[in-house]
Amino acid sequence: MATAQEHYEQVLADVYSWMLGGFDYGIHKNLEFFQKHEISPMGSSRAIDLGAGCGFQSIPLAQLGFSVTAIDLEQKLLNELKENSGKSTIVTIQDDLINFEQYLQGKAELIICMTDTLLHLESKDKVCSLFKKIFSSLEDRGKFIMTFRDLSQELSELDRFIPVKSDEHIIFTCFLEYEPNTVKVHDLIYKKDHNSWKLNKSFYKKLRLSKQWIDHQLEDLGFSKLESNIEHGLVTTIVTK
Ligand SMILES: C[S@@+](CC[C@H](N)C(=O)[O-])C[C@H]1O[C@@H](n2cnc3c(N)ncnc32)[C@H](O)[C@@H]1O
Repeated sequence: MATAQEHYEQVLADVYSWMLGGFDYGIHKNLEFFQKHEISPMGSSRAIDLGAGCGFQSIPLAQLGFSVTAIDLEQKLLNELKENSGKSTIVTIQDDLINFEQYLQGKAELIICMTDTLLHLESKDKVCSLFKKIFSSLEDRGKFIMTFRDLSQELSELDRFIPVKSDEHIIFTCFLEYEPNTVKVHDLIYKKDHNSWKLNKSFYKKLRLSKQWIDHQLEDLGFSKLESNIEHGLVTTIVTK
């Protein structure tokens, strides 16, 4: 089994922005998300993007006036972020997101961890310790935003095969194998090479976290809920300190 870092390096980084509908679409969708939730700098303007990937959130946040530090394990994705960030000065750091405090220069106004990044951590204990660090790193009234897929409900039999995306050059299918606390995510990517198809495959684990469990942990730490909803299996939670 691959670690999250190996999995992104071997299969996902090359197709990541394609898989989510293209770079421009990813930026536009997230800019709309932040505008809809009235996210704009009102304090120190320091924002930390945990698991920033190719910058789908970091770039819109910089456009909105935040000073963004983007942390990710995968250098290929951080390079894509840099190439596409235009005049915005986004600081990119290749490291485990759990170490984010080392890169903070003062408390942050906004910390985000979006699109399943949270599920890549090794255990619920790690998630709890990340939440504690986030609470103590935020300024008063600072916000924490997370989005992730609720994998707590088990799919069965053929429903575990997910057609992720395809076009004339790439066919991406995912197979989910459920375990009590985690899901083994098998990604199978066929790429056209002249007249034949080449298969690139790898699997890694994601945590099964429910919205209820997350809400409970955040409440226990003293966060106040601004929004917590689940739509088409995707949980969006916004809390403030
Ligand atoms: C699903 S992607 C989300 C990327 C971006 N937030 C977005 O919405 O497009 C998850 C990202 O988390 C990164 N990642 C996973 N585990 C990590 C860790 N422990 N520390 C830092 N980055 C991590 C991966 O490299 C990947 O870029």
